[in-house]
Amino acid sequence: MTTVIDNDMLASILTDVRPLIGQGKVADYIPALAQVSGNKLAIAISTVDGHHFSAGDADERFSIQSISKVLSLVVAMNHYPEEEIWLRVGKDPSGQPFNSLLQLEIEQGKPRNPFINAGALVVCDMLQGRLSAPRMRMLEIVRQLCGIQDIAYDPVVARSEFEHSARNAAIAWLMKSFGNFHNDVATVLQNYFHYCALKMSCNELARAFLFLANQGRAPHIHHPIISPMQARQVNALMATSGMYQNAGEFAWRVGLPAKSGVGGGVVAIVPHEMAIAVWSPELDEAGNSLAGVAVLERLTQKIGRSVY
Ligand code: DON
Repeated sequence: MTTVIDNDMLASILTDVRPLIGQGKVADYIPALAQVSGNKLAIAISTVDGHHFSAGDADERFSIQSISKVLSLVVAMNHYPEEEIWLRVGKDPSGQPFNSLLQLEIEQGKPRNPFINAGALVVCDMLQGRLSAPRMRMLEIVRQLCGIQDIAYDPVVARSEFEHSARNAAIAWLMKSFGNFHNDVATVLQNYFHYCALKMSCNELARAFLFLANQGRAPHIHHPIISPMQARQVNALMATSGMYQNAGEFAWRVGLPAKSGVGGGVVAIVPHEMAIAVWSPELDEAGNSLAGVAVLERLTQKIGRSVY
């Protein structure tokens, strides 16, 4: 049985899930993230046929963190031929924590996929090689995608990440030793940390990611963001690698392409229908939003959607 989406239905899902708050842990490995209240809960949905729904703290901005890895890949797809991208980064799930170095050494500096840190750093290295101002370009694209001009980076989060960048720097230098990282490490790390420090609300994220549900087109933008085939490919990567080592568990429970970030946000796509953004800062052991995933699980059961 399926239920029609409206704001009340979304609010009732949040009420059902709220008791889970307290069972996860707000990310504390970056001090600026540890200061966010764990009590937040939000959902927003933008549909291909022009509707928008939301409930909870859906207007409040938070650090989108690794959700930005999808956007940097999309920008790279706009600037590099397919073969060049996939020569440097793979398309398979890693089954490892997002910041692991283990596989990278064994696999000679080629990251498993663009959504683990190593893969996103290679993508940022590519952007540094082709764009004159990669940080500004990302802001322009995100502002255009959600139609809102004051989207910005959180300088405190970006700085905090840079001050705790030992592991990401190690990843970048290891790739450099294998010849898979071409630009200055500190410059690329700064770009990567700024992308992670993008501040957006669930309402903005759902609007910004709608092109992935709509064959690469944002309804309000004249030119395609990416081709229908590329949108299908990005969704496939999200389905297999968007939730880190919990991709299988997430496919089982929710059944949609999705990407999470340690700020507690998750974006999920129902191809041809809608983009969904949820937010709850407390994370499970893999680094995915504990209550956010539960919200997606209830929603997909209620509306009867899954790609499987
Ligand atoms: O690289 C880092 O440590 C973070 N700025 C990004 C981490 C992130 O969101 C991974 N996701 N779950």
